[in-house]
Amino acid sequence: MIVVFGNGQLGQELVRASAARAMPLVALSHAQTDITDRAAVREALKRHNPSLVVNAAGYTKVDLAETETEQARHANEVGPAIAAAACAAAGVPLIHLSTDYVFDGSKSAAYVEGDPIAPINNYGRSKAAGERATRETTPLHVIIRTSWVYGEFGQNFLKTMLRLAATNDELRVVADQRGCPTSTPELAGAILRITPQLLGGDKIWGTYHFTGSGVTTWHGFAKRIVAAQAPLTGRAPRVTPITTAEFPTPARRPANSALDCSLFERVFGFRGRPWTEEADAITRAVAGAVTGKQPHVA
Ligand SMILES: NC(=O)c1ccc[n+]([C@@H]2O[C@H](COP(=O)([O-])OP(=O)(O)OC[C@H]3O[C@@H](n4cnc5c(N)ncnc54)[C@H](OP(=O)(O)O)[C@@H]3O)[C@@H](O)[C@H]2O)c1
Repeated sequence: MIVVFGNGQLGQELVRASAARAMPLVALSHAQTDITDRAAVREALKRHNPSLVVNAAGYTKVDLAETETEQARHANEVGPAIAAAACAAAGVPLIHLSTDYVFDGSKSAAYVEGDPIAPINNYGRSKAAGERATRETTPLHVIIRTSWVYGEFGQNFLKTMLRLAATNDELRVVADQRGCPTSTPELAGAILRITPQLLGGDKIWGTYHFTGSGVTTWHGFAKRIVAAQAPLTGRAPRVTPITTAEFPTPARRPANSALDCSLFERVFGFRGRPWTEEADAITRAVAGAVTGKQPHVA
């Protein structure tokens, strides 16, 4: 049995992906198990007796984290420390999710795992602290840093673009921040695919980067989404590139947060599919569900 803390975008996708693979898995929502509650976490492990825990719980509101500092710190640092301690006490391996936003974005190439972290916003700082707590608390950990996560569940950039495309004739989207969009089916699939290796006792503990393949900007991502939804919705708004300076947000974001996933590929033997293919498929699934038209998934 795999226990997942958090039932957001990734948690819900893990439920779907595990059912398709007939792998027993339960995803516990915030209401079911608050990872900052030591007794509740211990009780969840006792009840489900997992062979693996995935910590997909977190505070992910990047801009709000600038003011809700304590909430972000609790969910992203205190909670992971408690989850890691419970896993260590039970001898259960832990996969913990982290983010590209632990980097400052000043590197021109994609970031490798060993690059120094230097977060430039509160969300990134809280996630960096969560990574540290996980590493220091349990040796049986895999930390997966991922980025620009989107899928059919929860809220994300792709859904925001679809909503705006339905009513606006122009979408103005930041074109000077680079990163790697990652679909939840890709991420959930990768987690379930590496599980047997972790449970098989392979000594592959540590920190890895895993994202969709390829790098783009938010503008490039938006253009792809808009193009993929047009045949289903008949909507074809212009997608205009703008600079970060033209779209000020409470939280600063790294100009480059592309992650180099070659370590993951060397160790586990596979990489994420091209982000373009995943963006097309998810756009068609989400837009198709709204319009009632069948998505043409290849
Ligand atoms: N989304 C991204 O673009 C992105 C990028 C890089 C890395 N990540 C990381 O990937 C992981 C999964 O992200 P996601 O996109 O699935 O996020 P999400 O959709 O926001 O889901 C996170 C879930 O965690 C729950 N949660 C918050 N505090 C909790 C607590 N104290 N105890 C238990 N559950 C709690 C939330 O519930 P409530 O909403 O009810 O509080 C929410 O359902 C996170 O670690 C995130 O930092 C995400």
